[in-house]
Amino acid sequence: MWSTRTADGLVVRAPAKVNLFLEVLGKRPDGYHDLATLLVAVSLYDTLEFKEDRSTAFALDLAPQAEATPGEARPPLSTGQENLICRAAELLRLRTGHAGGVRVRLHKRIPLAAGLAGGSTDAAATLFGLNRLWRLGLTRERLAELGAELGSDVPFFFSAPAAWCTGRGEIVTPLRLGGPLWLVLACPPAGLSTAAVFRALTIPDEPVDGRALQASVARGDVEETGRRLFNRLQTVAERLCPSVAEVARLLADCGPAGSLMSGSGTTLFALCRGPDEAGRIASRVRNARGKPVSRAYVVRSCF
Ligand code: C5P
Repeated sequence: MWSTRTADGLVVRAPAKVNLFLEVLGKRPDGYHDLATLLVAVSLYDTLEFKEDRSTAFALDLAPQAEATPGEARPPLSTGQENLICRAAELLRLRTGHAGGVRVRLHKRIPLAAGLAGGSTDAAATLFGLNRLWRLGLTRERLAELGAELGSDVPFFFSAPAAWCTGRGEIVTPLRLGGPLWLVLACPPAGLSTAAVFRALTIPDEPVDGRALQASVARGDVEETGRRLFNRLQTVAERLCPSVAEVARLLADCGPAGSLMSGSGTTLFALCRGPDEAGRIASRVRNARGKPVSRAYVVRSCF
């Protein structure tokens, strides 16, 4: 997470994430699933502008969208109490007793319901930004604990750029990347609800082991990493949303080191051998017949 002071507040950049590996180990008594997953933060960002407000009010507004994406069937983004930014601010006020007001403007670029943790990264950025703006003095560990109350993916963003995550996803072990990763993110026009994907899943009898992938990521071996990409939720998402399977075939046909769906979908990514290959694949994906992809981005792993 990056923050910059402005004359009357703070700007925070909140990165998206992709999962290079995701296995489901079992269903828990609390209704969640135990996971083993490797997360990497990437250079597609939402931006949050925080401005102190003399009142005790909290207000969130959306900056006008730079990109029009006609034909997308994603849920609209709420600026009400169910938005994770509002819930993060409320939680922080509740736990610290801080009574100050703030105005937040969100520049939303990360697609919704896309498996890129757009809501979770905004929640993490809010905890991080308000901790600094309000001079609360909470440690990253404490912020990550509060984040876990808001969503399973939120704590990761306090350990980015890469981590191995277990439990619901909230137990985070930071990882070193052996080298930069270049990816093309390809988003089908429809999103999927994470809860719906988990509901449709059959728990595997023999989980796939992610240690070899962890080792290849640490060595910076892109070819080996590409061969070992794995996501248990992908076949489920392909059943619920046929365009996931279509985009998976399109990416594989482009010949990257590997390709996979991120999280519970619907975004898929191609792991590329460098920026030139990523640029080539992105333009092929954008121009594919029948427009199965509504947005494509060339990104790299964050530092
Ligand atoms: O934690 P988060 O709110 O992001 O999760 C959204 C939904 O995804 C949960 O309500 C649950 O249905 C499902 N989920 C799960 N196991 C996880 C993470 C999420 O079943 N480890």
